Amino acid sequence: MSIEDKLQELTERRNEAMMGGGEKKIHSQHRKGKYTARERIDLLLDEGSFEEFDMFVSHRCIDFGLEDEQYLSDGVVTGYGTIDGRLVYVFSQDFTVFGGSLSEMYAEKICKVMDKAMLVGAPVIGINDSGGARIQEGVKSLGGYADIFRRNILASGVIPQISAVFGPCAGGAVYSPALTDFTIMTKNTGYMFITGPKVVKTVTGETVSEEDLGGAFVHSSKSGAVHFVADDEEEGVLLIRKLISYMPQNNLEDPPLYPCTDPIDRLEDYLNEVIPDSANKPYDVINVIETIVDYGEFLEVHENYAQNIVCGFAKFNGMPVGIVANQPNYLAGVLDINASRKAARFVRFCDAFNIPIITLVDVPGYLPGTAQEYAGIIIHGAKLLFAYGEATVPKITIVLRKAYGGAYDVMGSKHLRGDINYAWPTAEIAVMGPKGAIEVLHYTEIQKIKDPKERVKFISEKEQEYREKFATPYVAAKYGYIDDVIEPRNTRFRIIRALQSLATKKDTNPPKKHSNIPL
Ligand code: HXC
Repeated sequence: MSIEDKLQELTERRNEAMMGGGEKKIHSQHRKGKYTARERIDLLLDEGSFEEFDMFVSHRCIDFGLEDEQYLSDGVVTGYGTIDGRLVYVFSQDFTVFGGSLSEMYAEKICKVMDKAMLVGAPVIGINDSGGARIQEGVKSLGGYADIFRRNILASGVIPQISAVFGPCAGGAVYSPALTDFTIMTKNTGYMFITGPKVVKTVTGETVSEEDLGGAFVHSSKSGAVHFVADDEEEGVLLIRKLISYMPQNNLEDPPLYPCTDPIDRLEDYLNEVIPDSANKPYDVINVIETIVDYGEFLEVHENYAQNIVCGFAKFNGMPVGIVANQPNYLAGVLDINASRKAARFVRFCDAFNIPIITLVDVPGYLPGTAQEYAGIIIHGAKLLFAYGEATVPKITIVLRKAYGGAYDVMGSKHLRGDINYAWPTAEIAVMGPKGAIEVLHYTEIQKIKDPKERVKFISEKEQEYREKFATPYVAAKYGYIDDVIEPRNTRFRIIRALQSLATKKDTNPPKKHSNIPL
């Protein structure tokens, strides 16, 4: 064979691989409003940066007549490229080949990129669109999944791992996205469940659609398995690119620093007015966040889940940070099971990847009642406590208004190794709110007052007394638990200065195999 012929053969083989499961299947994919595996990679990565591995791999199955049905690449496209010039490894499942189902060789391709990513310390992004285990390959396929899970587990906390779900993701396959740091799902085309509607009907008798069982709405608002919902795949890949911009390449690096032209010392009078006169009136803490961060840009994580706590990424003077804030606009910002789980995982992600944590506190406490107690608020609430106490990254906390009870301790307090703790003059830091406190402290006296008017007057006087004495930042400041009471409009500047002062922070935990976080 001449070199020309050899080059011709290479071109032909490449062209064959590029066609995945063939033209008909590609049309069908497009008709469903989905891109192909390769088109997705092109959308995700910097133009021309993709280097593909294992294009010529095909499966080794000889059962069910599969020996005669071979597709180059075998249903998954893998390799590396860049996002804004930074290296990432990718795999993208190709639904046009056996419904994107996972074979032994397919799993090996994914494992190869995961191993390479670990070797050089770069993020892995997986795009899921698959019918699950390739049925014809039986246990080889199951083993392949477990090989991927093992790598997901060992890579956790070492390199960022991001999953996109742009098609079906069924059966045990869902556990790979669940093991990664963030999952993005498209509306209407992405879904995840451990068994599909047919099996659900057989086992439980329940009739449910794919969308209602495991669509983007369900997982972003009810189960919390999905962190971001995208209207379409274009939006999905943009979200991944944005998300990556806040992260370091691995746990040994710091997040990238960006040039910033947003003045660090801009005074925001709005913040002096934002806290309502009445302690029970809500306001939107996202407005506060957007006022203080660079260019008002805030990437909210888990926007639709446990909305009583807000988590997300932003920058201060070009430095990426994670922000955790109670949301008075939703259930008064109370801490419940879902809020604790959501924020705990976010705090742990930031800590694993050297991203400083800014905490904005306005919390009336943990949510009481049988529903929460029976569902395990003690254990789940402890997760957030644990996550804050364990985190060694720079931690800056600002108490905006209420910091009551255990929730004061949890939300980045000094006692849980908060580095710099500020309060606005509107802060109320106490064991509980005035109403509850007076009912406990003066219960017998209140019972003795028979005249309802006298009773109301007594209670309101005592509440006022309590508020003046305890519901201020100055008692906490007196003991040094609050480093300073700051003017709200100057919050951005004070946070930036605090971050700069903590840039070289080094803190560790005692040596151990691993901690035993209450799960
Ligand atoms: C082999 C599969 C397949 C699979 C789909 N195909 N899933 N081939 N193994 N798991 C093939 C189909 O036979 C079909 O081939 C092509 O892919 C496209 O599938 P369609 O059904 O035509 O597509 P659609 O109507 O869009 O439905 C997609 C789907 C459905 C919802 C994903 O295919 C489906 O329900 N598949 C099975 C899902 C499932 O139960 N997987 C096993 C989960 S258990 P042709 O040649 O006709 O085009 C599991 C265990 C993992 O994954 C455990 C890890 C621990």
